Amino acid sequence: MLFQNLLIENAQEPADIRVTGGKFESIAPHLDPLPGEEVLDCAGKMALPPFVESHVHLDTCLTAGRPRWNLSGTLFEGIQCWEEYKPFLTKEEVRQRVNRAIRLQASGGIQHVRTHIDINDPKLTALETILELREEVRDYIDIQVVAFPQYGILSYPKGAELLEQALKMGADAAGAIPHFEFTREYSVDSLNICFDLAQKYGKLIDVHCDEIDDEASRGLETVATRAYETGMRDMVTASHTTAMHSYNNAYMIRLMRILKMSGMNFVSNPCVNVHLGGRTDTYPKRRSMTRVKELTAEGINVSFGSDDIFDPWNPLGNGKMRDQVFMGLYAGHMLGYEEIVNSYKFVTTNAARTLHLGEDYGIQAGKDANFVILDAKDWYDALNYDAAILYNYRKGKLIAKTAPMEKTVLF
Ligand code: FE2
Repeated sequence: MLFQNLLIENAQEPADIRVTGGKFESIAPHLDPLPGEEVLDCAGKMALPPFVESHVHLDTCLTAGRPRWNLSGTLFEGIQCWEEYKPFLTKEEVRQRVNRAIRLQASGGIQHVRTHIDINDPKLTALETILELREEVRDYIDIQVVAFPQYGILSYPKGAELLEQALKMGADAAGAIPHFEFTREYSVDSLNICFDLAQKYGKLIDVHCDEIDDEASRGLETVATRAYETGMRDMVTASHTTAMHSYNNAYMIRLMRILKMSGMNFVSNPCVNVHLGGRTDTYPKRRSMTRVKELTAEGINVSFGSDDIFDPWNPLGNGKMRDQVFMGLYAGHMLGYEEIVNSYKFVTTNAARTLHLGEDYGIQAGKDANFVILDAKDWYDALNYDAAILYNYRKGKLIAKTAPMEKTVLF
């Protein structure tokens, strides 16, 4: 099939793309159609590699308001609401919700998802279900599973055993939550357990790290140091790191050195971090997003995730990656022209690095023909006008489409 007249990422000149056997066969300014070849004139629309959701909790998605709403809007009431929902978890119930969420993501041009699954459940119901779903939907979307100890590794009965069991069952990455452990000592010890288990089973690491407005929450320095000393480096990701918003600059300068040396990745979740953050403040209220601008300026890999889709921590959420970029740029003071035009990378190439998608990701001849076509000529307009994701192609096969929105002004 021949796709004509596409603007690929930030290209100024249009190109044609030929897809054969599920791969990008050739990409050039002008390709002549072959006899009998299907041709789609894309009329100068923008093409991107598929969106990558680098941080979401699929096990909790679409549960907001059940059994009750999180009225304080805090992380901790969210955890309490989730605790009250957990008795209702069954495999069928999880399967229905996650299937709906995955299709929502596909309609938004997402093909790769890293989901955190709460493993502080002796039955591991959600984990077992989502590991099954991961295989069932593999032709449409890649799901990477992080074994996430919601209540801690050392502050929950048999937390370490459950983490190890989850990795043995097939989770792709080990998680931790140092800021939620009972003590600072548990915080450090839990990270050591997380690293030991990840190395033992050859897994990635993604830590819910310092998701709290406490400038004394400093799990990150331990994560970065372990990433550096173990050589795991970019196999390690710190998610949230919202306490960094509150660190004093003297500490931040010292910390930045080991962050750069570590080679690790960061994931920020702009909408949810701004929503949950600053809740203990009167005024001024902190926006509680990690220092995306400064980390990026230092050459550290940062991506954006949704975190939550209509659940106890986010009463809204549609899974769209564009919304995360929109909020992230505003909250992070990153609305310079270059920052805007390159910001799609937070939810494409940067996120692909975090997930270790490797050389197969991207629009280049020889790679899998995975790409999306947006109803805009460039990312600036796509972001600003919330452009529809017209087509989502996976190995050359259309897996989701959206009709362009038509607006008529009657004056
Ligand atoms: Fe999270």
